[in-house]
Order: sequence, then C-alpha cells, then structure tokens
Amino acid sequence: MRGLLTLKDLSVEKIIELIKYAEKLKKGYRISYPDKKIATLFFENSTRTQYSFQVAMMNLGIKVVDFDTQLSSIAKGESLYDTVRTFEALGVDGVVIRHSQDEYFKELETIKIPIFNGGDGKSNHPTQSLLDLMTIHEEFGKFEGLKVCMVGDISHSRVAHTNIEIMRRLGMDVYISGPEEFNDHSAPWISLDEACKTMDVVMLLRVQFERHQEKMKISVEEYHQKYGMTVERMQSMKEKAIIMHPAPINRGVEIADEVAECEKSRIYKQMTNGVYIRMAVISDALDGNL
Ligand code: CP
Repeated sequence: MRGLLTLKDLSVEKIIELIKYAEKLKKGYRISYPDKKIATLFFENSTRTQYSFQVAMMNLGIKVVDFDTQLSSIAKGESLYDTVRTFEALGVDGVVIRHSQDEYFKELETIKIPIFNGGDGKSNHPTQSLLDLMTIHEEFGKFEGLKVCMVGDISHSRVAHTNIEIMRRLGMDVYISGPEEFNDHSAPWISLDEACKTMDVVMLLRVQFERHQEKMKISVEEYHQKYGMTVERMQSMKEKAIIMHPAPINRGVEIADEVAECEKSRIYKQMTNGVYIRMAVISDALDGNL
C-alpha cells in the first residue's frame, strides 16, 4: 500500500528526511500539484487533522474533495473498502482516512492510490507524531537523549502509542504518567510531579471519554488536581523544558487554562507544524516516494 499508514513502516532516516522537508516548506519552499485531487474521509470527528490536511493540500495547489460521511452511501450500508474503491474509480489521486477501527487499512490492501492515515482507533496517528517530532526538533535540534513523558489516558491514545514507538527508535527516554486505570505499561511509569522536574518534554493527553467502556474512576476535578498540568507544576519544570498536547484540550482537566498558552506551551505551534508535515508527506507520496 502507498501513502502513510503507520510510522513503523518508515526508517529513522526517512522520518528525519520528512521532518527536514517540512522545515524547508515552513521556511517558504514551494512545490505545486495543480492537476491532483485528494479526498478527505473522516469517519470520526476531527478539527486539526482534517482541516490541516486540507490547508496543506491547498498550499500545494491540490483540489480537496471533502467527503461528508452523513450524506454519503455509508448510511445505505456501503463498506469502507467500497467507499475508498469508489474514490479511486472517480480518479482522485489519494485519500486521507480517519476511522475508529484499529488498522482499518488492512482491508484496503488492493487500493493503489496513496492512503494517508489520519488516525485509526487506538493504534496509529502518524502525521500527529511527525508534527510532534518536528516541534521537538525545532526546539532542541536533536532527539537522542531527550527525556519525554506522556501523561494521562495512555491506554486509549493512538498518539501515545505512535509516539512511544518512534521516540524510542530516535533514542529518546520515554516515560508515561497518569491514573493507574489508563496505564498500559507501554513505557516506565513516573509520577507527574517527578516528571515535571526532570523531563525535557511533558506531553499531556486528552482524557478520551468517548472511548471508555467504563466511567472514569475519579472526577475531572480530582483528575486535574492529581494528573493535570497546573501552574505550580508548570513552574517546577526545567527552564528549557516544554509542554505539548495533541489537542483538542480540555482546559481545567488535563491542563489549567492559564498554562495552555503559557511561555512553555508549544500546543499551537504543534498545530502550525502539522500543516507543513502534511504538505511534506503528501508531496513525497505524490512524487512516488511513499
Ligand atoms: N490532534 C488531533 O488529532 O486533533 P483532531 O482530533 O481535532 O484531528
């Protein structure tokens, strides 16, 4: 399959190349694909991923085909495969897909146009991880030896699972923190207070209530007090350490309102970088390299 489905398919060298390409695009380098059309198929809600892919396409001169799941033949029972196969038959040059099913792309193996994964279940969110890495690279100029802690709803987070795998391959020291009920032991656990004092990057995660089978064991107020990035915790961080969050953010739950846009926060920079990362990924795929 072509496109970008999981970062596990990419070497460390290829990931660095994509980040450097995105940095070049951010500095003003332009490339255009005016004859191309790409469809966005979002079967789960999205603000950042869906619209930053669309802005990335517009910046590349690509025509956007905005698929509306509510008005499509999905309601008549059309399968994911038949929907994607239809777009291929219509002549689009690629599709961006977000779907709640883990590794939905396994049923699309015979599709020949590039597929860009905008997130699958709890498993992969490759362009989110690439934009996170670009933001870290801009800040520190390296990955090797950096200490990062992901905090919160680890077990339901495709961002955490994607980042843990690739950050380790890049030589980063990866930790997790948060309530025991969300600890899937995918990395060593550390208390948030200790993480704030020792990490270079503290990445907060949204509590993903929509994926929970059972109600969270603690109230959101208790969550904020025990596992949220408060002003006090932010002030205990190292001078050059940064706060990240893939967003959407729940102000007052995993992050205090005052911290969301503080001097240490890179949350909105992550969103800006997402456009350039998606431009780099689409361009590389249309050039036949992904
Ligand atoms: N970070 C992220 O995936 O945000 P959206 O769900 O809004 O796309």
